[in-house]
Amino acid sequence: MTSFWSLWIIVLTTITIVGITWVLFGNRKREDKQTEQTTGHVADGIEEYDNPLPAWWFYMFVLTIVWGIGYLIIYPGMGNYPGLIGWTQIGQYDEEVAAADEKYRAMRDRYLALPVEEIAKDPAVRKMGMRMFANNCSQCHGGDARGSYGFPNLADNDWLYGGTPADIKHSIIAGRQAAMPAWGSVIGEKGVADATAYILSINGREADAGQVEAGEKVFQTYCVACHGANAEGNPAMGAPNLKNGIWLYGGSEEQIGHTLRAGRNGVMPAFGDSLSEDKIHIIAAYVYGLSQ
Ligand code: HEC
Ligand code: HEC
Repeated sequence: MTSFWSLWIIVLTTITIVGITWVLFGNRKREDKQTEQTTGHVADGIEEYDNPLPAWWFYMFVLTIVWGIGYLIIYPGMGNYPGLIGWTQIGQYDEEVAAADEKYRAMRDRYLALPVEEIAKDPAVRKMGMRMFANNCSQCHGGDARGSYGFPNLADNDWLYGGTPADIKHSIIAGRQAAMPAWGSVIGEKGVADATAYILSINGREADAGQVEAGEKVFQTYCVACHGANAEGNPAMGAPNLKNGIWLYGGSEEQIGHTLRAGRNGVMPAFGDSLSEDKIHIIAAYVYGLSQ
């Protein structure tokens, strides 16, 4: 907080406390006796006596003011003043997280020592992994890990980068950055249409025979380096299998055409810095388990 706003809060708070103290003491009636005098207020024939506050009530007000001042001295509340004991919300949160980490670390260390394939069968691990997945991964891959447009399905057995525990862990720790170049300016609209026809044909879908033949030449020239000679993909670069009918960006003629023309660059963020090794191990086991 800037010193202006800090000062603003301090001044306003002080004026308020002084103000309510003045209201309380300034208007206090000293004579403790009940009187017959009224304030002159009448509502439906009911009149209001002008008597002092009961003592217990008055002292309760005093107590709340003293309590408030004490609170503002001990805890942070007056602008940037940190309070006598240095308590902060973030500090308390960190302490609680550290305590929970301590509590669960031993258990997670035990899992970390076991291979992913093995703990993937443990229902307790899958439950933990599912919760961690919901917190960290579901916004992109979906609550059921089945993905959506541009976000791969992690629950099937089709992988861009490979589905061994080591591959999955690598995807999570270091992230992945796909590079499918834009081909529009290289192969032209005819090239795009021909290559699309070829891709449709290898998926067993209808396409013009002449276009398929021309498209195969385009494919052999420009695409095999990443997608492989038989279009089955290459996990080393995350190039998908193009003949299994599973599409990251849609399998309609228009969608494939758009992919070819404009390229695709899917990004999987790296979690190596934000998630601890044992958590990644458990999430990897959960994801691995889904595909088995
Ligand atoms: C430099 C490597 C590279 C080359 C060359 C390449 N691709 Fe790709 N291609 C990729 C990658 C990587 C992806 C995945 C993109 C992503 O995940 O965002 C991809 C994705 C695709 C997709 C989308 C698949 C889906 O599931 O939606 C199609 C279709 C495709 N490529 C066709 C082609 C064709 C046709 C060519 C040749 C004209 C070609 N690619 C050349 C790397 C390449
Ligand atoms: C911001 C969105 C986003 C988040 C969050 C995210 N991912 Fe991904 N993830 C992606 C995208 C996009 C890809 C595909 C990258 C590509 O196109 O090559 C991917 C790819 C993957 C892959 C590789 C899939 C394959 O077929 O090889 C795995 C495994 C994976 N993510 C797991 C996770 C896990 C586990 C988490 C949570 C810790 C997570 N992701 C969080 C967007 C995300």
